[in-house]
Amino acid sequence: MTARLTGTLRSPETLRSTVEARHRRGAVPAIIAGIGAALPDRVVTNADLEARLDTSDEWIRTRTGIVERHHVPPGQATSDLAVAAAEAALSNGRMTPGDVGTLIVATTTPDNPVPATAPRVAAGLGLTCAAFDINAACSGFVYGLRLATTLALSGDPVLLVAADTMTSVVDPTDRTTAVLFGDGAGAVVVTADSRGQFGPFDLGSAGVLADLLVVPAGGSRNPATTSTVAAGDHGLKMQGREVYRNAVAHMVESCEAVLTDAGLDVDDVDLFVGHQANVRILDAVATRLGIPGNRTHATIDRHGNTSSASIPLALADAVEHGRLAPGATLLLSAFGAGLTWGSCLLTWVQGPDDE
Ligand code: ACO
Repeated sequence: MTARLTGTLRSPETLRSTVEARHRRGAVPAIIAGIGAALPDRVVTNADLEARLDTSDEWIRTRTGIVERHHVPPGQATSDLAVAAAEAALSNGRMTPGDVGTLIVATTTPDNPVPATAPRVAAGLGLTCAAFDINAACSGFVYGLRLATTLALSGDPVLLVAADTMTSVVDPTDRTTAVLFGDGAGAVVVTADSRGQFGPFDLGSAGVLADLLVVPAGGSRNPATTSTVAAGDHGLKMQGREVYRNAVAHMVESCEAVLTDAGLDVDDVDLFVGHQANVRILDAVATRLGIPGNRTHATIDRHGNTSSASIPLALADAVEHGRLAPGATLLLSAFGAGLTWGSCLLTWVQGPDDE
């Protein structure tokens, strides 16, 4: 497993005090003070999938934009990726685990049905603080940011880890899903800080459409039995076209809602980072919003769809590639199973470690 962004950025204490964020309605004074990412070492290319599935590199690239993704080896779990990403984020923010007041893990693929994964992650970091999971599928990171900013304003820094091992719920023989998903984790430390602006947020759900993207068995409605295993009901089932249509519509609407609430125009957005599910979804959302390609950042080609981890992984990648300057206005937008969606604005306050 490779953890990235360990101590490459300045801590909040040493940030320039000259970050001047434009005033936004509905924003709170909080920042991302540290960010980290973790990806399993094993890279699975389209050619690898071609060798075992009725699919092709050409189909995967043109329909999704995915070229490769990372898969965990047997025995590696969501909490293992989460701990590595959390350690990288704390180091990046020049903090220690003892600085953390609350630990939130956003995941749809917990280590176990019971208990939550967050306490395991806390233990892995040597922590005994409040630790709990949230599950909003691919929207989990944005939902988690909403919680983390609220908690950070009234207390100690909040460590938010978005981690998923989608390979644990995807049937490797189902070409309609197996080519799409990858494993990974991203983590951020959210702190109260008057130099930043976080929000407004727009979060929503449409549970009437829950069955568009579902693992049919293994929960309380349809517990695991030998029949559910035999029927393949523990694998993710997705009605791709309907999910696609809903993703574009809700992400656009949600982004427009936060921009309107903030009193900002799309031209005020310096970088758009959307949930990395399909490059066609990202392009369609950006086009409808009027955001040019040079103000978007995508990692779908290298990571596939890593569910809740996709946005923090893309953010960490944008930082590594120098795409985020202090004071930049970021627009994040996610969409996933539930259905759920969420968008928010934030001001980036970190800069390259040029001291
Ligand atoms: N290789 C080759 N052919 C394939 C593959 C594959 N891997 N998968 C499907 N096909 C075939 C289908 O069987 C179908 O064949 P047919 O026309 O003979 O029936 C054809 O390709 C077209 O299938 P569609 O499903 O219509 O293809 P589409 O262009 O819609 O792309 C995709 C499918 C990529 C899944 C797209 O619909 C999509 O990205 N949907 C959204 C997924 C998403 O956003 N998920 C986010 C949430 S994930 C979460 O929350 C956990």
